[in-house]
Amino acid sequence: MKKIGKPLLLLITLSMGLMALASALVGVTALVLFLSFSGVDLPSWEDEPVLAQEEVKPVSKTLMDPVGMWVAPDWSEVEEDENAELIKYGRDLIANTSKYLGPNGKVKKISNGLNCQNCHLQAGTVPLGNNYSAVASTYPKVRGRSGTSEDVQMRINGCFQRSLNGETLANDSKEMQAMVAYMNWLGQGVPKGEKPKGAGIFEIAYLDRSADPIKGKTVYEKQCVVCHMADGQGMAKPDGTGYTYPPLWGEHSYNQKAGLFRMSRFAGYVKANMPFGATYENPILTDEEAWDLAAYVNSLDRPDRDFPNDWPDISKKPIDHPFGPYADGFSELQHKYGPYIPIQKAIAKKQ
Ligand code: HEC
Ligand code: HEC
Repeated sequence: MKKIGKPLLLLITLSMGLMALASALVGVTALVLFLSFSGVDLPSWEDEPVLAQEEVKPVSKTLMDPVGMWVAPDWSEVEEDENAELIKYGRDLIANTSKYLGPNGKVKKISNGLNCQNCHLQAGTVPLGNNYSAVASTYPKVRGRSGTSEDVQMRINGCFQRSLNGETLANDSKEMQAMVAYMNWLGQGVPKGEKPKGAGIFEIAYLDRSADPIKGKTVYEKQCVVCHMADGQGMAKPDGTGYTYPPLWGEHSYNQKAGLFRMSRFAGYVKANMPFGATYENPILTDEEAWDLAAYVNSLDRPDRDFPNDWPDISKKPIDHPFGPYADGFSELQHKYGPYIPIQKAIAKKQ
C-alpha cells in the first residue's frame, strides 16, 4: 500500500471534517424547517426562562427507604400456578376494566370507563401506588365504613360502586373470581394478618393549615393540565375503551363516597405517583402542593351517591371524612379541608 504523505493526510482529514460540518448544518436547518412547518413548538434560545429562586424546589426526597419494600411476585412465574388462566384474566380485568365492564364493556356494562389500574397502578403492583399487597393477608376484616366484616369481594364491589361509580359484580361471576384469584396470587408471600411495607397509599403528613383549593388550581395548571386537561376530563381512547388520561372530576369520575374523595387519600396518592412518572423515590410535589391539589380537585363537581348504611358508628369516621354527622364538635368544612391537627388532638384527649 502506498504511503500518504503527512500534509496530504491532514488536508483530507480537514476537508472531510468540513464536509461533515456542512452536511450537519444542512440537516439541522432541514429539521428546524420541518418542525416549524409541522407545528411543533420549538424552544427559543433567546428567551430561555430564568426560574425565580423560589421556583427551583428540589423536592426529591425519598418518601420511604426502599429497603424491605414489598415487591410483587415475578409475573413470568404465573404459568406455574394451577390457576394461571384465571389469574391472568384477573390481571387483565384490573388493567383493562373498561374494555370488559365499562360503558361499552363486552362482558357487562356496569362502570364509568375508569380502569382499576388508573388508581391501582400497574395492576396494583407499585409500592405506594395503591397496590394490592395487603389484600390477601388482611381480608376479611371489619371496616368502619360498613361496620361489618368485609371479604375481598365486598371490598372490590366497594370500588366498583364508588371509584367506578357503578354496579356490583356477583361473587360467583367469573370476573369476580378472576380478580380475587389475581389478588391472592399477588399476596402469596405475605403472612396472614400482615401489611407489607409500601402497601396501599402513602400516609402524607397533615399540614398546619387547611388545604387551599385556590392554590391547588395554580399547581394544577402547572403540573397536571397537560394530561388531565383544563376541564379535568382527561383524554378518552379513540376506541371508547377507557382513557389515555383519566378524568379527575365531572360525571365520568369517581363519586363523592369514593376513597379518593377523602383528601388524605388523594394527597397521598398524588404525592407518590403524580405527575405521572413521579415515584415514592422521586416525588415531584411538595406536601403542600399535594394537599392543595386534593382541595382543588375535590371541590369540583362529581357524581354523588347515597349509601345509607355507611358508618353505622359515626365515631369510626376518619378525620378527613367529609360528611357529618360527627362524634366531635368540628364542622364538615374543617373535616374536609382541615386543619386536621386540632381534630386529631381533640379525639386523642377524649380517649
Ligand atoms: C378512582 C380511583 C380508584 C379506582 C378506579 C379503583 N380504586 Fe380501589 N381503591 C381506591 C382507594 C383510594 C382505595 C383505598 C386505599 C387506602 O385507603 O389505602 C382503594 C382500595 C381498594 C381495595 C382495598 C385495598 C386494601 O389494601 O385494603 C381493593 C381490593 C380495591 N380497591 C379494588 C379495586 C378494584 C378491583 C377496582 C376496579 C374495579 C378498583 N379498586 C378501582 C381507589 C380506586
Ligand atoms: C404525563 C401525564 C400526566 C400528568 C402530568 C398527570 N397525570 Fe395523573 N394520571 C395520568 C395517567 C396516565 C393516569 C392513569 C394511570 C394508569 O392508568 O396507569 C393518571 C391517574 C391519576 C389519578 C387517578 C385516576 C383518576 O382519574 O382519578 C389521579 C387522582 C391523578 N392522576 C391526579 C393527577 C394530578 C393531581 C396531577 C398533577 C400533579 C397529575 N395527575 C398529573 C397521567 C398524568
